[in-house]
Amino acid sequence: MCGIFGIVTEREQELGPILIEAGKRLSYRGYDSVGFATMDASQTVDLRKDVGKVGDVAGGHGVAGMKGLRGMTQLRWATFGAPSQANAQPHLDSTGDMVGAHNGNVVNNAELRAQFMAEGMAVRSTNDGESCVHAVERYLREGLGTQEAVRRACADLEGDYAFVIGRKNEDCLYAVKMGSGLVAGLGDGFTCVGSDLPCLLPLTRKIVRLRDGEMVILRGGGIEVRRIADGTLVDRPAQDVEETMEAAQKGGYPHFMLKEIHEQPKVAQDLLHLLGASKHMKRFVDRLKGARNLYFVGCGTSYHACVLGSVYMARLAGKAAVPVLAPQFTAQYVPALGPGDVGVFVSQSGETKDVLGALEAARAKGATVLGLANVLGSSLMHASDVYLPLACGFEISVPATKTFTNQCVAFLALALRAAGKDLTVLDALPSLIEATLGAVDGPVKELAPTLAGRNDLYCLGYGLTYAIALEGALKIKEVTYTHCEGMLSTEFKHGPLSAVDEGFPILFVAGPEDVPLMVSGINETACRGARTVVIAQEDPRLRANARGVLVLPPSDPLLAPILGVIPLQLLSYRLSVARGHDPDFPRNLSKTLTVD
Ligand code: AGP
Repeated sequence: MCGIFGIVTEREQELGPILIEAGKRLSYRGYDSVGFATMDASQTVDLRKDVGKVGDVAGGHGVAGMKGLRGMTQLRWATFGAPSQANAQPHLDSTGDMVGAHNGNVVNNAELRAQFMAEGMAVRSTNDGESCVHAVERYLREGLGTQEAVRRACADLEGDYAFVIGRKNEDCLYAVKMGSGLVAGLGDGFTCVGSDLPCLLPLTRKIVRLRDGEMVILRGGGIEVRRIADGTLVDRPAQDVEETMEAAQKGGYPHFMLKEIHEQPKVAQDLLHLLGASKHMKRFVDRLKGARNLYFVGCGTSYHACVLGSVYMARLAGKAAVPVLAPQFTAQYVPALGPGDVGVFVSQSGETKDVLGALEAARAKGATVLGLANVLGSSLMHASDVYLPLACGFEISVPATKTFTNQCVAFLALALRAAGKDLTVLDALPSLIEATLGAVDGPVKELAPTLAGRNDLYCLGYGLTYAIALEGALKIKEVTYTHCEGMLSTEFKHGPLSAVDEGFPILFVAGPEDVPLMVSGINETACRGARTVVIAQEDPRLRANARGVLVLPPSDPLLAPILGVIPLQLLSYRLSVARGHDPDFPRNLSKTLTVD
């Protein structure tokens, strides 16, 4: 996820070190490139940017020596356009007299770029941040003042974004909030603006929180907040904030895990924007369709996404894909692998040794290797023939939540495309995830204390929800340190049923197409004393048979499994906290497993 920061001072000073430190504070959001721009008293625009880490880019481009009255930095997480120096932000307008940077997604970027080029503007990148700059330039060319041009530009830019922009021969910066985070700060002799509170906190604790549809005009001595729609002044006094840096990074949530669970509507939306615009999608899909044998390979949570992905692939595209744990892929399938075979290697970190080892083994046998990973610049990304990012930003909590959801979204999108279908069915997903979070939060809070004392649970699913049962069980194990087993519901009678006694908790995840089968499973266990809880869309047959129901909003059956994992993520989080553990950093575990 990108991040922006801007500062305006009353007296010219070395802004480089301030921008570098602000960039470092934004870096927890995840990024692949970084840029810095300053405007000094002689009114030149100095822009330095590159692919790489804040420290490396700053060191390589002498950023520490940049001086000025106004400055901005941007960390870019590639969405529109590959990670490259040209696509790194900030961007200049056609003349080089104006500079700006954005955070978020401008979804009509392709259309806008074509328009700007037709209007004779110098478009230098494929990045949507540049479209923000040219959108303002368009109205300056019509003779409007900067403030009005910025406001008019927002009407042309579709999507969720925030941007900061400044022109030479002025004394201010302008920043807008249209769906992405933006806070302004007031200090002694300066004002500043940034994508989030942690980025401003070491500079000032006098904060003005912007709302969507508002812009802020920053001068060294103060700020002005205005409504973008009509330019009217907004009276919003600064507040003194007391949050610690760590609390601010958690965005008001007590743990990163809970924050990341709640980020899922946004990251799903971001990924859908990205996949809709990605040039790599077609290449990826062509290789899936042309595969002689197809394997989906991962570990832990990423493997569970592979299990769901293979069901999507078979159901939608009629193509069998074998989901397999990475080390077992090496042992079981690599000996039979050859040219024409395709492996999709899936990993949040892109650094898991088990996965990279399997990938190299597949490559050595001449197979095509495709990558799905969250961390840009990861080893998996570099090693893949074709690669798609997951667009989740940084996932700090060890338990994977938002990255699992986006792995599933990516697999569903790939399967739809492989079937020759568009992605319309996915349009509703971000708001359905939001609705699910709202609907199940209260019931999960009530359920958790009643399960917190149990040391054995089962989580059962079937078909599309089998992977969700596996993932829910892993999540519960990982953060509660209890035994929880995920299984195919129909397998339960083949052994585990003997473990059931009075009150034994079993969680069922039921897809709308599998209700009759689930009702059998529920009764088979309930009549032996099991305490059955179902995660499903409202259905009288389930209500009549299960002891408890966590109700999901109605959705297309293809989306139901992705929604079904959310109550399990929340439940594992609540159980972990109830048992006195830190869900973000479970004992014995690491976010990135680079060992055998
Ligand atoms: C998930 O909550 C776990 N932290 C773990 O299973 C993880 O998914 C696994 O180690 C694989 O990691 P990767 O996705 O980074 O390859």
